[in-house]
Amino acid sequence: VPVAWEATTDVVVVGTGVAGLTAALDLTAAGRSVLLLTKGAPEEAGTQWAQGGVAVVTDERDPGDSIGAHIEDTLVAGGGLSDPAAVAMVIEQGPAAIRRLRARGATFDAGPDGLLRTREGGHSARRVIHAGGDATGAEIERALLAAGGLPTVLADHVVLDVLRRADGRACGVSVLGPDGTVGAVRAGSVVLATGGAGHLYAVTTNPSVATGDGLAVALRAGAALADVEFFQFHPTVLWSGGADRGHRPLVTEAVRGEGAVLIDGAGARVMTGVHPMEDLAPRDVVSLAVTRRLAQAPGGIDDHVFLDATRIPAATFRRRFPTVYAACLASGVDPTAQPIPVAPAAHYHCGGVLTDLDGRTTVPGLFAVGEVARTGLHGANRLASNSLLEGLVLGERAAAAIGRDPAGSPTPDENDGTVPAPTLVDPADRGLRQLVMSARAGIGRDADGLGLATATVLGDPTGDGTVPAGLAATRETVEAANLRMASAALLAAAAAREESRGCHVRTDFPERSDAWSTSVLVELGGAGLV
Ligand code: SIN
Repeated sequence: VPVAWEATTDVVVVGTGVAGLTAALDLTAAGRSVLLLTKGAPEEAGTQWAQGGVAVVTDERDPGDSIGAHIEDTLVAGGGLSDPAAVAMVIEQGPAAIRRLRARGATFDAGPDGLLRTREGGHSARRVIHAGGDATGAEIERALLAAGGLPTVLADHVVLDVLRRADGRACGVSVLGPDGTVGAVRAGSVVLATGGAGHLYAVTTNPSVATGDGLAVALRAGAALADVEFFQFHPTVLWSGGADRGHRPLVTEAVRGEGAVLIDGAGARVMTGVHPMEDLAPRDVVSLAVTRRLAQAPGGIDDHVFLDATRIPAATFRRRFPTVYAACLASGVDPTAQPIPVAPAAHYHCGGVLTDLDGRTTVPGLFAVGEVARTGLHGANRLASNSLLEGLVLGERAAAAIGRDPAGSPTPDENDGTVPAPTLVDPADRGLRQLVMSARAGIGRDADGLGLATATVLGDPTGDGTVPAGLAATRETVEAANLRMASAALLAAAAAREESRGCHVRTDFPERSDAWSTSVLVELGGAGLV
């Protein structure tokens, strides 16, 4: 299609969470021109919502913790599927990246003896630093958006596709502007930092922007995805009634780190006898235990359990967890006096666009950083609070790699004034697709359910094999297309992996199998993808 406007820059960065902002700041500091765009407001990123904190060993002299222990905890949580080189790199480089983040103005909660640290699931030590009690991500987002040198953010601009040169190298993106016009950003390198995909499912902790855009854009550009079957469900998401849909508030795992426990409707502990770490077991273990307890409820499937935080002194709870406290009160629950109703909900995509340890995808010139990427850090299940750290470290490393890349300058000579027509889907069936994903591809999957979900997700809306005519390019039609493609990728990988591991629980293949100790790759044209 012809473009209504054009821009040229050294690097285009798509997304304004911790990874995208860090990459943009470092690139600008290195003298590169950067165009930074996001489909919502600048602060509308998954980072903004992160509560618990950043897992990082800030003091190697602390006898209770070490980089080695953090690496080991990450590998154990990852269920044997993490890349040990990625784990070691991110965790070893994390402390210096946090120092640079603090130098950029982010402030973490501290006491007389230095930074305060809490514990979350799967961690053998108190190593999760936090800000504003339970508003860690909001502080990081604030600091990075306020940092000197940040390029202007082009808000309300929806990325459509990665543009590619005749030799296959990425050379920019096509973009839907807020006025409905399609433009082209010509660039030497493209950085996808589009965040997560929680809205593949009916209920999620993720903000409304998390619709798997980067996964779909990367697939259409020819990039490979990996580990996409591993979608992490957070066990303690505030439950308000059986009809919960869309975004729901998180009750940070740090509440359990400070002593809260999960109980069922009869008051019995959920995690007793399930795992030696009980309520602080890795997240996949806790979410599965909650799901199983709900299925065993007298009278059939129940829809929530409770997080009992009443043993935490009320004043401590209010000071330490102001975000959770406010969300509970808004939902009519006083968490200092009564158990909090909670249920698992889609939270974090462990897999994503396959990258190396500098964020390079399988397409030259195309980088992916943050939640959209799969570096190998998380394996089959992300360790709590490792993701902000990964976003920081990979944002820095991708910027440095682009700085070293001699081929990374824009090529306006390839510009013929057009971009490929965008992929659009009628958003009318979005809710149906999300419901079937939750029912058939959430915690507990089998071949029949995945087949049914695939048929629904890829369903033929007109019933005659044709695409509805006359769809206009809007954020809604673009998101519907991206959700459909990302769902299909997840379903194809989940159907392929005939074992249970980490967040991927196959009821028809309940055991972990050594035959599956490698990642499933998905590319456009792979099984189940159209
Ligand atoms: C939480 O605060 O429980 C979430 C932290 C995370 O997802 O890493």
